[in-house]
Amino acid sequence: MRITMVGTGYVGLVTGTCLSNTGNDVTCLDVDPAKIEKLNRGESPIYEPGLDELLERNKAAGRLAFTLDKAAAYGPAEVIFICVGTPSDEQGRADLKYVLAAARDIGDAIESAEGPTGLGASDKAKIVIVKSTVPVGTNAKVRAEIASRTSKPFHMASNPEFLKEGAAINDFNKPDRVVLGVDSEDAGSRLRDLYAPFVRQGNPIFTMDIPSAEMVKYASNAMLATKISFINEIAGLCELYGADVDEVRRGMCADARIGNKFLYPGLGYGGSCFPKDVLACISMGDEVNRPTDLLAAVHKVNQDQRIRFLEKVDAHFGSGSGPADLSGMRIGVWGIAFKPGTDDIREAPSITLMKALLERGAEVVAHDPVAFETCRGVMGDSITYAGGMLDVVEGADALLVCTDWDEYKHPDFGAIRAKMRAPVVFDGRNLYRPASMREAGFVYHSVGREA
Ligand code: UGA
Repeated sequence: MRITMVGTGYVGLVTGTCLSNTGNDVTCLDVDPAKIEKLNRGESPIYEPGLDELLERNKAAGRLAFTLDKAAAYGPAEVIFICVGTPSDEQGRADLKYVLAAARDIGDAIESAEGPTGLGASDKAKIVIVKSTVPVGTNAKVRAEIASRTSKPFHMASNPEFLKEGAAINDFNKPDRVVLGVDSEDAGSRLRDLYAPFVRQGNPIFTMDIPSAEMVKYASNAMLATKISFINEIAGLCELYGADVDEVRRGMCADARIGNKFLYPGLGYGGSCFPKDVLACISMGDEVNRPTDLLAAVHKVNQDQRIRFLEKVDAHFGSGSGPADLSGMRIGVWGIAFKPGTDDIREAPSITLMKALLERGAEVVAHDPVAFETCRGVMGDSITYAGGMLDVVEGADALLVCTDWDEYKHPDFGAIRAKMRAPVVFDGRNLYRPASMREAGFVYHSVGREA
């Protein structure tokens, strides 16, 4: 199939690369010349395990191309995936300006291309798929925008993506499910064919109406975010009632109805998806006068979670009320990325925490296996970037663990203690056992467990 991806961000690049790998002819279009140039050199603009190799292989095979040329990208495409960004506006609503601009270009391209559907002699209509996460009803707006530019027929489809950063290639190649919202049997059967190689183990492809497919994406992310805020709220209660949230979680998870995923307490969810999607869901409710009280609480709990963690630092170093004065102190930070396996720092708790530490006068020294460059873009030289994880603790008055990278899970605590000025650890990911930390001579603070 001839496929065009509009937008070479995370979703567009991973989807385009994986679709080319099953033999499709994929063109990726972007408006950013620097990005296209980089991709044409075979370099990926994002860090994603396994992506570079796939990119190189499919580029070399002539199945994957990158271009700035809209006419060349849209003209021959049978299927067009819109994967452009939908940033939140000030009210938390998804801003659709890039999606609708792409729709107008697509409408113009269909109109100016030859043939009854813009595909030469073929009478097969192009399928325009919205893959960006967009509020329910957006496909209808995209359809109207395209139809305002052309009277030729085309299909619309919604195909939400469920990729996790750091595991995106595997998630795409072996999806739990593929969700297709379609406007016709023809679009449904062509898209099922496209996805058939990815569901050979028997995982389902659900074909449904377009608004339902759009809603599946928000409902899924909002549910996962709710689980995280739920366990974080329980963790807060555990701290005050002397319970251990890890034990509580184990006891809960034995009930299969509750399940054992996404119930790890910590610093709250970050990244480019959950915070944005929960806010977009809240706005969707507001727009139709149906407040989403539960999701508003999920969002609030998530924000408070960072503040509560910071309060532990303030309580340890301060006089008991308000922010502590940390001037003259050196605080080490392990982990900057919003989660392991990525260099993405969008909505990362580490950034909120490092900024707060700087405001309190501390010197901040941070380590992350991959997120230095992205962090430098936001924090500049206000913090020190350590080459190794042990450099962070040298002369430190405390260590904050912000991301659960594997390399932080079994460190040499003897060496760490010897290097620190004071053996104090604030663990935002509950990586260690309180009793072991006490035995190793540390003052240890974590989330939802004994102080
Ligand atoms: C999330 C979803 O998991 C994907 O299914 C979805 O496709 C994607 O958003 C999206 O909408 O594009 P992602 O943002 O990559 O994927 O990250 P997750 O692995 O889901 O983690 C999100 C956040 O939740 C991280 O900050 C993580 O630290 C936190 N988390 C996760 C917890 O605090 N506790 C948990 O038990 C699990």
